[in-house]
Amino acid sequence: MTTLTQTKERFSASAGSAVASLRDGRGAFDILPTPNLEWSPEVEAATAHLYERVAKVIPPVEWPFHAPYIKAINDLKRVRDAVILAHNYQTPEIYHCVADYVGDSLQLAKLAAASPAKVIVQGGVHFMAETSKILSPEKTVLIPDLEAGCSLAASITGADIRALRREYPGVPIVAYVNTSAEVKAEVDICCTSSNALKIVESLGSDRVIMTPDRYLAENVAAQTKVKIIAWRGACEVHERFTAEELESYRADHPGVKIIAHPECPREVVEASDFAGSTAAMIDYVRTKKPARVLLVTECSMADNVAAETTGTEFIRPCNFCPHMKRITLPKILDSLVHMREEVKVDPLLAARARVSVQRMIDAG
Ligand code: 13P
Ligand code: SF4
Repeated sequence: MTTLTQTKERFSASAGSAVASLRDGRGAFDILPTPNLEWSPEVEAATAHLYERVAKVIPPVEWPFHAPYIKAINDLKRVRDAVILAHNYQTPEIYHCVADYVGDSLQLAKLAAASPAKVIVQGGVHFMAETSKILSPEKTVLIPDLEAGCSLAASITGADIRALRREYPGVPIVAYVNTSAEVKAEVDICCTSSNALKIVESLGSDRVIMTPDRYLAENVAAQTKVKIIAWRGACEVHERFTAEELESYRADHPGVKIIAHPECPREVVEASDFAGSTAAMIDYVRTKKPARVLLVTECSMADNVAAETTGTEFIRPCNFCPHMKRITLPKILDSLVHMREEVKVDPLLAARARVSVQRMIDAG
């Protein structure tokens, strides 16, 4: 068995240069040399079992470009005592080949808190990395690209929540986890797409303010007697789907099961056979095994599910999230080599935000 020290020595030796140290006030981080990224028989042998996982969705000609990064990342994770948390929208070479944990927003939040690793590399967008940091303040949380944002998180600020409180005194405010730490710190409780209805009904109020996704709010409002007051944000990926588009897919692909994410407009959800979080959508395919399916969500998810599914034909409209796609294998490797970009949340703000996230977890 290779020890951490042996793996680290192998890294240093293979690049033939000294390991530098970066001081950040809490101790020393080694900046490791960038590993050799050439395609070789050794890399091919070390990654052959991983290629089997993605062979249905990554052509053989592309593998020599991914495999050296995959091997280097998997080696370096052990050196750093790091885990990679990947959202279901990450590309297959990340999702199936370097991620330690995959899931929807709620699952990733819980996994971040439960993992014993010292370092979390977030394969996802900034609010997800912040949520990891909020739940695990003692861990080093890295995001491979600081610009990986989210149209929902960008649509609302802490000052907006304070203004809502003045406008609707006493009405509980729920924030989707797709929000900044500043927003989470101001609200009463968080929710994700998998628990939004439950959270709203758990508050015992006849009126609830849901922020920031107007469509998630409309989709919850359709299932409850609670009066929902909605912020007007939207996911730039899901709001582009239309009911007409789905009807034309149904006409072209008889028998197709259409499953949608609740960030889609109400009429899109109504035109679908099922709606749920990304994890619930994956579960639908795994358990119901439809002969034909169309996932009305970010397009990498269909690749990830198709890679591990037999007997189902995937109809694939492709709306991709430009923020999720900022996370790539070279950037993940760079994160682990340089220990960047570190996501920091002011401890007092994090403590307040943690109350809202923890209330959500406890309610679930
Ligand atoms: P879930 O994975 O929680 O369903 O969220 C989808 C999403 O858009 C995350 O950015
Ligand atoms: Fe935000 Fe939509 Fe991208 Fe998810 S898919 S990160 S909600 S913009």
